[in-house]
Amino acid sequence: MSDQSEFRQRRKQLLRQIDKSAVAILASAPVRIRNKDVEYPYRQDSDFYYLTGFNEPDALAIFAPAREQGEYVLLCRKFDEKNAVWTGRNVGLDGARAEYGADEAFAIDDLETVLATILENRKRVYYPIGRDRELDQRIMDAVNQVRERTRAGIEAPTEFVAMERLLHERRLIKTPREIELMREAAEVSVAAHKRAMRMCKPGLYEYHIEAELLHEFIRHGMRSPAYPCIVAAGSNACVLHYTENMSELKDGDLLLVDAGAEWQNYAADITRTFPVNGKFSKPQRTIYELVLEAQRAAIEQAQPGKRWNEPHDAAVRVLTEGLVKLGLLEGQVSKLIKDEAYKRFYMHRTGHWLGLDVHDVGDYKVGDEWRTLAPGMTLTVEPGLYMSSRLTEIDARWKGIGIRIEDDVLITEEGNQVLTAGAPKTVLEIEQFMQD
Ligand code: GLY
Ligand code: MN
Ligand code: MN
Repeated sequence: MSDQSEFRQRRKQLLRQIDKSAVAILASAPVRIRNKDVEYPYRQDSDFYYLTGFNEPDALAIFAPAREQGEYVLLCRKFDEKNAVWTGRNVGLDGARAEYGADEAFAIDDLETVLATILENRKRVYYPIGRDRELDQRIMDAVNQVRERTRAGIEAPTEFVAMERLLHERRLIKTPREIELMREAAEVSVAAHKRAMRMCKPGLYEYHIEAELLHEFIRHGMRSPAYPCIVAAGSNACVLHYTENMSELKDGDLLLVDAGAEWQNYAADITRTFPVNGKFSKPQRTIYELVLEAQRAAIEQAQPGKRWNEPHDAAVRVLTEGLVKLGLLEGQVSKLIKDEAYKRFYMHRTGHWLGLDVHDVGDYKVGDEWRTLAPGMTLTVEPGLYMSSRLTEIDARWKGIGIRIEDDVLITEEGNQVLTAGAPKTVLEIEQFMQD
């Protein structure tokens, strides 16, 4: 299926989901200013992209089931000759129809007028209220225009409903095309991690490794990472969202690299932790192998029919048992788990959904129950242990060791597939790879 026919398919499904007396409205992401007149690189809103494939700002998609002139209306920027000179071509109204499958296209400047017409005699509006004040106001202005026509026998909408759920339940199960894109993002991210391992040596700085990661992403056309690269040497690895990336790589330290490319808006998310000098010390190896064992146990639980919490619970059990064996926790394993004693060293959960957003959408609980895993779901499995130097009570040999191992896992009919398996992971694989 071509990408355009897949987007069309998704719109059709949405139109079937909402009833004929309703309208659904979704807006593009705004342009954000970095400083003065410099913009951040544009990134489309994931829900909007999921339905439209349209990558411009200042756009609004309207879905109106059974509308005679067409059910899919796209409002966007008109083609602008002057802008074409300065910032390049925008697709304009003709392009919105011809290239993006809109039944009708209008200028975004006419939003209130166009929307007011479409809202006539519709009862319910699916719209994510509260994301953008200015847009909320424009939508309300359109509704008020319809209200003014009630004396002419026209009805105005009476209900506003959040629509995220409708889309997010679908985004949770990836189509074959989405999986293909995620595989491509994963493949290039694996290559980037290998490149980072190859280039790593004492005396370099964290940003040198970041440069290698970005080089590998960009040379494959993946112009942006899916999130800021974490390149954390030594005890910096104990800062979970460390992105400063300015420290020196010291002989004898570990380096934690958490980095993934974004490809056609789909994310990869990989963490590898390896020795700066290519050889694990004994304490580093001990902790590393414990995290690795926890990750193996968690991945084994990532199966169709298992619940969302099962990989996490498996990781917590392995980690807690290991911490007791090492004397880092004392007491009965089951009680330590119940009391969450492991949180001193492992304070985050074992994963998250992955897709158009790195922390992708979809509920983790359905009612009171953890969600059951099913084929087509993609998630990360990323246990870690963080022996912060601030932990005064632990033995000096552990201090400053921060380790996380993260892979991207697709749930399949038979079990699972690790999309990021190509990045060296065992102690032996890493040491051999870095030596070669
Ligand atoms: N890189 C973000 C995360 O691992 O969740
Ligand atoms: Mn992650
Ligand atoms: Mn990550």
